[in-house]
Amino acid sequence: MTIKLNHTIVHSHDPRASAEFLTSLFGLPAATRFGPFHVVQVDNEVSLDFLSGDGMEIPMQHYAFLVSESEFDEIFGRMQAGGVRYWADPGQKQEGEINHHFGGRGVYFEDPSGHLLEIITRPYGNWPG
Ligand SMILES: [Fe+2]
Repeated sequence: MTIKLNHTIVHSHDPRASAEFLTSLFGLPAATRFGPFHVVQVDNEVSLDFLSGDGMEIPMQHYAFLVSESEFDEIFGRMQAGGVRYWADPGQKQEGEINHHFGGRGVYFEDPSGHLLEIITRPYGNWPG
């Protein structure tokens, strides 16, 4: 099988601001432009293509990123320094906490358009032992 997710469109109130939020927080190269899109490339050949919602109501989507332990430290440090609100749970009840599911670390936060983002250091289902 050679089927890989290649890109997805992320509707945003302000696609440039949303792309910059993600690239600066994650320490990624600046977004590139492709037509109306602000394209953020991540490391597994997938891009998030931010596009203006043109005033439409933007339904919340969830995007989870697998990061290394050191990347988690860097990203989480930038979140704390930047005053980004975060939660240990997707229901956003446990504010100011992270989780330790699957023997790793995980945390949820919102992008400028209200999409729920997540960074994890272990994929779901990868229970130790
Ligand atoms: Fe998730």
